[in-house]
Amino acid sequence: MTARFALSIFCLSLACSGSGTPAWSAPPSALSGYEAVTGDSPDEDRSIWDSFYEHKSNVFGKEAVGFLKENLHRVRKGRAFVPAMGEGRNAVYLARHGFQVDGVDLSPIAVDRAVELARSQHVSVKGIVADLTNYAYPLQAYDFVFVSLFYMEQLIPKFKQVVKPGGHIMVYVKADTGKPSAGNTPDDFLVKNSTLKAAFKDFQTLSFKEYRDHGVDVIAILARRP
Ligand SMILES: C[S@@+](CC[C@H](N)C(=O)[O-])C[C@H]1O[C@@H](n2cnc3c(N)ncnc32)[C@H](O)[C@@H]1O
Repeated sequence: MTARFALSIFCLSLACSGSGTPAWSAPPSALSGYEAVTGDSPDEDRSIWDSFYEHKSNVFGKEAVGFLKENLHRVRKGRAFVPAMGEGRNAVYLARHGFQVDGVDLSPIAVDRAVELARSQHVSVKGIVADLTNYAYPLQAYDFVFVSLFYMEQLIPKFKQVVKPGGHIMVYVKADTGKPSAGNTPDDFLVKNSTLKAAFKDFQTLSFKEYRDHGVDVIAILARRP
């Protein structure tokens, strides 16, 4: 199984119902599409994500992640970078709270929806269609980086490099608790508590939380670049 394939299934296991209430399980019809995937090409991944988003809207709900809402007052305002923003629930939340937001996603359908969601709420999000594994990350350009339900270990240093000194980064992921996982998540893709902590050992951790969100074990970190 490739890392990307694992990632895809991971994401599907966190899919939400169209009502905005997270169901935390994969829609069987969409999952069977993923099961056919074996390659690592971005084009292939893009078409997978597009067909997934075509299948339904508000896949991960409309609400921003709770950990983001709870901790936003601790984050320095300014420019925000939202990699893998999906349909924009978190990016738009940040724009509504005064951030100048750049959001990246592989799926043009997701990016269009995010930009439209922002417009419908009278704010603006700059939508960028790009593959994050092959992206020109600027140096120290953003006050805040927010990542949810997307974890590729090799990208963490890239996400850190874009944070300005004194700026913040927040990561929210599904936890590897050692227990059998919910949904169809392969255990090799879950993120260990210790892995996430170690990834930010050169930053100052302001908050680290392990909790159950809609029946799924998650971990979230808020860290500040010295
Ligand atoms: C589980 S979704 C999470 C979406 C959003 N962060 C949220 O919480 O609502 C993962 C997102 O990562 C995007 N993605 C997957 N691989 C990517 C890549 N290599 N580059 C950019 N985006 C990618 C997918 O298109 C999808 O929108």
